[in-house]
Amino acid sequence: MNQSPQKQSLLYEGKGKKLFATTDEGQVIAEFKDDLTAFNAQKRSSESGKGALNCVISSLLFELLGKHGIKSHYIKMLDENNMLCQKVQIIPIEVVVRNIATGSLSKRLGIEDGVVLPFTLVEFYYKDDALGDPIINDEHCKILGIINDERDLEHLRQEARKINDILRAFFDDRGLKLVDFKLEFGRNAQGEIILADEISPDSCRFWDKQTNKKLDKDRFRQDLGDLKSAYAEVLQRIQTP
Ligand code: TMP
Repeated sequence: MNQSPQKQSLLYEGKGKKLFATTDEGQVIAEFKDDLTAFNAQKRSSESGKGALNCVISSLLFELLGKHGIKSHYIKMLDENNMLCQKVQIIPIEVVVRNIATGSLSKRLGIEDGVVLPFTLVEFYYKDDALGDPIINDEHCKILGIINDERDLEHLRQEARKINDILRAFFDDRGLKLVDFKLEFGRNAQGEIILADEISPDSCRFWDKQTNKKLDKDRFRQDLGDLKSAYAEVLQRIQTP
């Protein structure tokens, strides 16, 4: 009999998700929360139904990427808030991919908001809330012992660029600019580095191609309102054939 996996103990609670053990050692359940945080959780709120939108959006995007040969922790959606995933050891690097300057890049380097970058920029940030997720380079990664093998860092960059190519074209066809996004990777039981975490309007910036309307968590960061309808619109565009 093929029983649906059941939640066991809580393994970890992050800002956007709870991770539960299952009866299968190699699998976990990610429960998407309605909580919203920004600026290293200095700003907090909650929006009923936000978690479900992110869970469905992430599931569809992991499925899309899987069809293009990108391996991820995603196994299947269990219900609208819960995703069954391969258990991985998260690598504490936030891989940020940028096509258009905005957010912390514009602030740090003074590049005008909305400028299309001459090439896709991939950056690494050290995933450490106490330090405020500082930007790091390959040598920092080695000094911190996060990743010691140059080939693994190259693999992260290559995967991030491939994912960008797939998602950018997909969203372009649906009237959205993929401005930038953040990815996380983890090692599975076989030691393979695979895509993990989520891909949602919490972790990506989407602008409408015609109007530049922001359809992502900047609506919360910048107090623009209508967050849920913006996320619902992203989902609706993803579901457009
Ligand atoms: P940034 O411009 O604030 O550095 O953000 C770049 C991208 O990364 C943007 O799409 C939002 C996403 N992001 C996260 O998912 N988590 C974070 O903690 C931060 C700072 C950004």
